[in-house]
Amino acid sequence: MLIKTDSTSDTPHPLADEMGEILISVEEIRRRVAELGAAISRDYAALEPRLIGILKGVTPFMADLMRAISIPVTTDYMAISKYEPSEETQSLVRLLKDLDMSITGEHVILVEDIIDSGLTMEYILKHLEGREPASLKVCTIFNKLAHRVVDLPLDYVGFDLPDAFVVGYGLDYQQKYRNLPYLAVLKSEVETT
Ligand code: IMP
Repeated sequence: MLIKTDSTSDTPHPLADEMGEILISVEEIRRRVAELGAAISRDYAALEPRLIGILKGVTPFMADLMRAISIPVTTDYMAISKYEPSEETQSLVRLLKDLDMSITGEHVILVEDIIDSGLTMEYILKHLEGREPASLKVCTIFNKLAHRVVDLPLDYVGFDLPDAFVVGYGLDYQQKYRNLPYLAVLKSEVETT
């Protein structure tokens, strides 16, 4: 099947053979990110928010979002790793890289690629609340509700997704596919190889 990278290109993406259905196109992502950027610019006028990206999946979204925001912002990043419950760790999530800058008194917007169970974001929120930011909100480009186990306040959401494993626009399967410019379902044959 010929899958196009966007509605204006006739060139199939080199990874297209491994993709199933394209759920969200390049153009749909572009339009929604512009809307999110406009909303943040309006809501935070004169507040100079700090955008905090959660590595690594957030990188394409963070790059697009910050350029869609028309007010001054600062940026920082943190990295976490997720464990399977079978590993019997106390927490399911571990901090790998902390922020470079203090957030005390700052208006913080956590920027995430996808929220699934919500456990990662719950951990990050608890971790950062103790540092006394002036405010703390969450912006995610993708939101999967099917397996949510914690009730999370989400302030800016790009797209609600069906219950499927998706890749592209920063999201990976075994570290691959992050560079796809659209969001797609991975073919099940690829997941089992
Ligand atoms: P949560 O803690 O269950 O909300 O999981 C959030 C993290 O799981 C994300 O930051 C992703 O790294 C990963 N994740 C969840 N669903 C998907 C998916 O469909 N594709 C790729 N990664 C996913």
